[in-house]
Amino acid sequence: MCGIVGYVGGDNALDIVLNGLKNLEYRGYDSSGVAYFNKNNLVFKKSVGEIKNLQQKLEKTNLKKTVVLGHTRWATHGENNLKNAHPHCDKNKEVMLVHNGIIENYIKLKNELKNVNFLSQTDTEVVAQILGREISFFDDKKVVLNKFLKVLKKLKGSYAFAVLFKQFDDKIFFAKQKSPLIIGVGQNFNFVASDISAFLKHTKKVINLEDGDYGYISKKEIKIFNNGKEISRKTAIVADNFDEINIGKHSSFMEKEISEGGYAIKNTLLHLKNLDFSKLKKVIKGCDKIFVTACGTALHAGMIFKYILETKCKIDVILDCASEFRYKNFLVTKKSLCIFISQSGETADTLSCVLYAKKKKAFCVAITNVLSSRITKMVDFVVPTFAGIEVSVASTKAYLAQLCALYYLIYVFCDVLKLKKPFSVEDIFALSKILNNFCQDKNLLKIIPNFINNKSLFFVGRGQDYLLALEGALKLKEISYIHCEAFAGGELKHGSLSLIDEKSYVFSLITQKKLADKMLSNIVEMKSRGAKIILFSQFKNLKDNATYFIPLKKVKESLMPFIAIKPLQELALLCTKQKGLNPDKPRNLAKSVTVE
Ligand code: M6R
Repeated sequence: MCGIVGYVGGDNALDIVLNGLKNLEYRGYDSSGVAYFNKNNLVFKKSVGEIKNLQQKLEKTNLKKTVVLGHTRWATHGENNLKNAHPHCDKNKEVMLVHNGIIENYIKLKNELKNVNFLSQTDTEVVAQILGREISFFDDKKVVLNKFLKVLKKLKGSYAFAVLFKQFDDKIFFAKQKSPLIIGVGQNFNFVASDISAFLKHTKKVINLEDGDYGYISKKEIKIFNNGKEISRKTAIVADNFDEINIGKHSSFMEKEISEGGYAIKNTLLHLKNLDFSKLKKVIKGCDKIFVTACGTALHAGMIFKYILETKCKIDVILDCASEFRYKNFLVTKKSLCIFISQSGETADTLSCVLYAKKKKAFCVAITNVLSSRITKMVDFVVPTFAGIEVSVASTKAYLAQLCALYYLIYVFCDVLKLKKPFSVEDIFALSKILNNFCQDKNLLKIIPNFINNKSLFFVGRGQDYLLALEGALKLKEISYIHCEAFAGGELKHGSLSLIDEKSYVFSLITQKKLADKMLSNIVEMKSRGAKIILFSQFKNLKDNATYFIPLKKVKESLMPFIAIKPLQELALLCTKQKGLNPDKPRNLAKSVTVE
């Protein structure tokens, strides 16, 4: 996690980097900092909390700078305080460095550094100190690059570094290994950053760096090396739009992104209709097992895929969350089809599963929203989603786009295996019209004060509704900090029912007719213990079974997950707003989880 951005160009570098950092804040917002030259000296400014705190600190200085690097932190090594905030430097302040990743052997390296008074608890400072020890102020560019490589070779773990050396006041050095790092190419300016949102306003020209790449940027130069040799990497033009990272009229990015659910589906579908699936189709015909893995919300989308494929198409799917999958040594073989779902395409747990599956020579498919992400380079086939940039940590429109891509895959499976299709592409397309805008249910808004101060809230469903309950509970707990738990309706009486009393509020879902009676029995069991039931359903005749009824638009039952998730996303947002919290930046979390 953490976001880094470095800029070399005009004298408004500080503003540009601060704005870039704001767009990277979704990667972490524990603290932030910048480094730059001040009369031939290297200096840094840091602040705890959001970028606006750093900006306030810098406002008074009103500095004109042409070379600046910045960092926004998600704390891994060392608590969240000013000392641990990046940039870090060597003891003589001749090297300033920002880092995204984890240096796994930092303790060993730290112990090797004698007579160094470390100022922070971070792994990053160790690297800055080693660079300071190895590289002299009088070393020229060639020597610095060689020594830089020598130091990089000592490091174990993952890193994206941007570095300032005191003797080069027109350059930012960089290095990449297992953490994302790209170059933004401009005319008379260049960027190095964790992702394009840091510089999309200035350029759409991007060089995707590969692991092992290092080098430097200046105003007019981009030099990339790998293992001692200068190399060239292709420049690509990205299609992303800067407007996507503008909050517009909305009070939060989450609100904006919920309202874009329909577009996410429409855009994804339009692209998938033109994608050549022939390579994947061949694999589907011959594969022995299907594995699916992902984390968090992406995992919940995968669960729906498994449910529909198993119940409607009678095709078994093995699914587990990526952090467990990797260490279970599943029997993945060269005949297996492995599907990885990741909005960011950078989630370390998911990527480690891709590596595992690749080792077993399985056919790997990635469903991702970021075409320039690491996962796209690792797999055999990419099914892109086109939700647009998702800024809020809570995933909303990306979940819908993932469902859309997964349903499209189900359609492809049915096509290849000559199975009856449970829905048509047009059916999915029709959803896009229903799901645009923020449709805030007035009833929902009214009842929130009744439970907003509860210690726990419950989500219950059966079949696909249980999987939606899991996602609804995750969304609400993630941003409102209320403890939320999801249960499969039938499981309640096996233990969890003891939690239910007259203070309990239970969000219940019924979107499948065949499971309605059974779920109604579970509702009665909870009501008998005094629980208030908030029922989400398209079956209006069930209204009287609930304390509060939230009607859902009726579509084909297998497509109801698209419809039912929206009020659950809105519920999470509305509760969070009532608690006066920022839904876009929940505590302790970051959007892109690039550490295992
Ligand atoms: O980028 P990814 O889809 O791989 O991210 C996976 C999870 O970290 C992510 O979905 C997370 O659970 C969301 N913050 C939930 O809203």
